[in-house]
Amino acid sequence: MHHTKDILESLSFIQSRTDMKPTVGIILGSGLGPFADTLENAVHIPYSEIPHFAKSEAVGHANELVIGTIAGKNVVAMKGRFHYYEGFSLDQVTFPVRLMKALGVEKLIITNACGAVNTEFNPGDLMIITDHINLTANNPLIGPNNPELGVRFLDVSEVYNKELRQTIKDVATEQGVSVREGVYAWWTGPTYETPAEIRMIRTLGADAVGMSTVPEALVAHHSQIKTVGISCLTNMACGILEQPLSHDEVIETAEKVKATFLKLVTGVIERF
Ligand code: HPA
Repeated sequence: MHHTKDILESLSFIQSRTDMKPTVGIILGSGLGPFADTLENAVHIPYSEIPHFAKSEAVGHANELVIGTIAGKNVVAMKGRFHYYEGFSLDQVTFPVRLMKALGVEKLIITNACGAVNTEFNPGDLMIITDHINLTANNPLIGPNNPELGVRFLDVSEVYNKELRQTIKDVATEQGVSVREGVYAWWTGPTYETPAEIRMIRTLGADAVGMSTVPEALVAHHSQIKTVGISCLTNMACGILEQPLSHDEVIETAEKVKATFLKLVTGVIERF
């Protein structure tokens, strides 16, 4: 459970660094960190300095909160996120979303890199998340509920806001970018899936599989933040092609799609 007192302590720390009031939040997945560098008049705050943020040992990730302006909107961006597979509790993984809510965020874009389970999809495709399947047997809302933050029994019939999904589709059409739509399955990682697991995941109705996004989306929904998810399909999931998966492939594809992704996200924020 997240405690109101902890959230308020984090909030006043952030407010001691900037008086900007962000209304849009974005969580940047693998390879998408550079979006944060496009924010103007930006304040960079390392996670390690923010009270109640988890302490990450991960190297090679920026791990900072960036608050700035783009397309006329005040935005708070998470450059680097906390993953469940790193050993963090789901409270730790999702605490930044509570902070975003306290800062005034009304709309949140969650991005990720993930594997394509739907064989009609291709590496490099972008996918708007329509719904998710939680395969982890865990949930960030397990434990006592803080009624100041949200309800005990949360309706999850529309975690990914339909109106905002339409906005993404409209902006993509205007930009001539093709986007897929589909169901994201959350896998704990850190191992990728086996070929048999991917067959199971496809049978269950998922189009993509990845190791993030769902905990943040659930907590954002619990916090009454309008949420959308955009995935970069960096590889065909295990067993679809006759080749092993590699993290290098994931990073390489994310890098190729980066410019399109950043333009799309900027256009979407402008419309928000
Ligand atoms: N599976 C799970 N997570 C991932 C994948 C994948 O194939 N690619 C990138 N993140």
